[in-house]
Amino acid sequence: MMDGTIRLADYRPYPFEVTQVALLFRLAPGATRVRARLDLVPRQPGAPLRLDGEELRLISAAIDGEALGGNDYLLTETGLTIHAAALPEAPFTLETEVEIAPEANTALEGLYMSKGMYCTQCEAEGFRKITFYPDRPDVMAPFQVRIEGDLPVLLSNGNPVAQGPGWAEWHDPWPKPAYLFALVAGDLVAHPGSFTTASGREVTLNIWVRPGDEDRCGFAMEALKRSMRWDETAYGREYDLDIFNIVAVDDFNMGAMENKGLNIFNSKWVLASPETATDSDFERIEAIIAHEYFHNWTGNRITCRDWFQLCLKEGLTVFRDQSFTAEMRLGPVKRIEDVILLRARQFREDQGPLAHPPRPDHYKEINNFYTVTVYEKGAEIVGMLKRLVGDAGYRAALDLYFDRHDGQACTIEDWLKVFEDASGRDLAQFKHWYVEAGTPRLRVSEDWAEERLTLTFEQSTPPSPGQMEKAPRHIPIAVGLLSPNGDEVVPTTVLEMTEARQSFCFEGLATRPVASILRDFSAPVILERAQNGAERAFLLAHDTDPFNRWEAGNALARACLMEMAEGAGPDGAYLDALGPVLADAALDPAFRALCLRLPSEDELAQALHAAGKIPDPDAIHAARAALMRAIAQRHEAALSEIYAAMAVPGPYQPDAEPAGRRALRLAALALLSKLDGGARARALFAEAQNMTESFGALSALIALGAAEAETAAFRTRWQGDRLVMDKWFMAQLAYCPPGLAAGLARDLAEDPLFDWKNPNRFRALMGGLSANHAGFHDRSGAGYQFYADWLIRLDPVNPQTAARMSTAFETWRRFDPGRQALVRDELDRIAATTGLSRDLSEMVQRLRG
Ligand code: PHE
Ligand code: ZN
Repeated sequence: MMDGTIRLADYRPYPFEVTQVALLFRLAPGATRVRARLDLVPRQPGAPLRLDGEELRLISAAIDGEALGGNDYLLTETGLTIHAAALPEAPFTLETEVEIAPEANTALEGLYMSKGMYCTQCEAEGFRKITFYPDRPDVMAPFQVRIEGDLPVLLSNGNPVAQGPGWAEWHDPWPKPAYLFALVAGDLVAHPGSFTTASGREVTLNIWVRPGDEDRCGFAMEALKRSMRWDETAYGREYDLDIFNIVAVDDFNMGAMENKGLNIFNSKWVLASPETATDSDFERIEAIIAHEYFHNWTGNRITCRDWFQLCLKEGLTVFRDQSFTAEMRLGPVKRIEDVILLRARQFREDQGPLAHPPRPDHYKEINNFYTVTVYEKGAEIVGMLKRLVGDAGYRAALDLYFDRHDGQACTIEDWLKVFEDASGRDLAQFKHWYVEAGTPRLRVSEDWAEERLTLTFEQSTPPSPGQMEKAPRHIPIAVGLLSPNGDEVVPTTVLEMTEARQSFCFEGLATRPVASILRDFSAPVILERAQNGAERAFLLAHDTDPFNRWEAGNALARACLMEMAEGAGPDGAYLDALGPVLADAALDPAFRALCLRLPSEDELAQALHAAGKIPDPDAIHAARAALMRAIAQRHEAALSEIYAAMAVPGPYQPDAEPAGRRALRLAALALLSKLDGGARARALFAEAQNMTESFGALSALIALGAAEAETAAFRTRWQGDRLVMDKWFMAQLAYCPPGLAAGLARDLAEDPLFDWKNPNRFRALMGGLSANHAGFHDRSGAGYQFYADWLIRLDPVNPQTAARMSTAFETWRRFDPGRQALVRDELDRIAATTGLSRDLSEMVQRLRG
């Protein structure tokens, strides 16, 4: 097909081996020169040499020192092809020189500039905007880099070789694909550190930031050292260069990037101080530092054969960073947070027009596949594998993976094979998880007779785009049984479901137990279980599995809210069931805070849609607000006590324990604000000494529609701080009364601080609006229209970010015909825009379905 679709089935190995790359950069904002020397070995006689290249001005090209003539090659918008007739049969050297303009690069892909600093982003296909090269992950080579530029700090991958005023040379001995290349040049200062590996190698560590930010790097540096140590103990993986550099940059499309030895971070995920970062920022920073560091082995030493295999590195590395955070902080709380995110975002994706398998088999623009499905569902699949083969089996499989595939570019098939070889199991059926989209529905029914409990499961996976029929999956279902007095009579066992319908028996039980099913959320499925409120309340009070304990309360809250959205009053049984949880001082505050967190409006819309109803965003918003008020009324005394007792004295520490206390305290505050008109929140805002409390108080006031003074004060205080101002833009829109959201978005877009070309700022404003569920989906269509206007405006400047943000529209088919028509009009309008990027046009095409 000529519509630009790339297919997995068309994969062919590259016909040349690249044995060495030498790059020379002469930096200048408007006209940077890049000279590249590639040592090439032909692998298929007669094959032309096809190199990717975009937006490059070719200055010269030579083979073995001989300049190429005009008949020797073909130059197009997308690359350079040197005809076979012009190529030697023996190994040869290709030298090219090109000119590029980093200062004109607003897409932030390739070599670009951010506040005077040169910076690269090459994943997935940005290297082709730097020089002509086989820009595909299965071409791996060692790189030598020389940078010339009048800037004090000149960085690239690998180890430093030599430097002088205005130049530096780097050598990366580990063969790597071009997407891991990086270069940074600027007026930067280092927050230094060092690390001694398990085998005694000394590693220099640096976090490079703009002058003035160096006092906000301490936390990230300590997180890096914890990550390095953890990868040694948990996976036996040591760092492999003399130096590890991290750079913080303000203009960045994503969270961070794992370039070999030179990670580049969105400054939002590095810089932190108690005054400017919240507890959840600190937790995310630690997780992202770990994630990028862990890629050194899972991603860099072993990379992906092609971009269809993206979840090979991302699913595994997310799983690793989740395990790390679970050990650094509170494991069960981390698991619950991860499942909340998975269900809110990945289940939503899986049920809409953008659904795709963790390993897709076609795409037009790979940047559109850095998704929650590839990342988060990819991580869940690794978690299921681990549950199936056990801890020791998992470690054996990973050891084999590193042993067998170090230095290679691999596939999901390679990955599953190491599990098969290490465990002796057949994973053919398990593979469906990787290659099919859609969230399985798992229905369970119970039968009790003659001291025997029978659990019967039925699974089915709904159709998704391009995949109508789904085979049964191999599903690990962790189950435990509790006696009516709360004792555990059968500890957690993993049932392996492989059929469409399957029964499992538990024999010899004196009394009928209560089953705790899908413990620890052992598979990413939607569990359908007819369960009454009393049973859920029992599990909320007694389940020995913390995830399912939380889940029982969450299911109660969800059922209650779904009824309220259709006109019912709050469920007294749910309100009663919360009492013991609030009062139980033996429960971690962070866990109790999660129990007070109601399902989001978007999740409720998802649940109503799944139940065959048409969600009404206004009714959902009203139901949620009413339930918060009802909880506050019913538990006012307990919540006030919590609010007082959970105050954390002394200087701020970002650790899990005090953060959990603050989370519980702020959850109580949000509820109490519904009764006290915001008095407590206003007081806390005035006295807060850290961003967690200041922002929590501000958010509670915004939700009340009573934050005018505080919003202004916050702006005055923080207008010089980019990261804090992102929060200011986001929170006003995300939490304000929905009727105000679209109008406020228009006003904020006029604010001189709305620097829309900065991805963080753009995401703060648009993401804030789309997070305001009833506001974004306002029946007037004003939210949709505003949002579409800005996607159209951003697209020519930064297509990648515009395309990512378009996912706000992915739920449109849930709603009533009126809203559907409004969204369809906006999608049509975007699609009709001339010159639309490949990124956004693919997204809009898929969204329109
Ligand atoms: N590979 C990065 C990560 O997950 C994400 C990323 C993708 C960053 C593409 C930039 C561009 O760690
Ligand atoms: Zn990653």
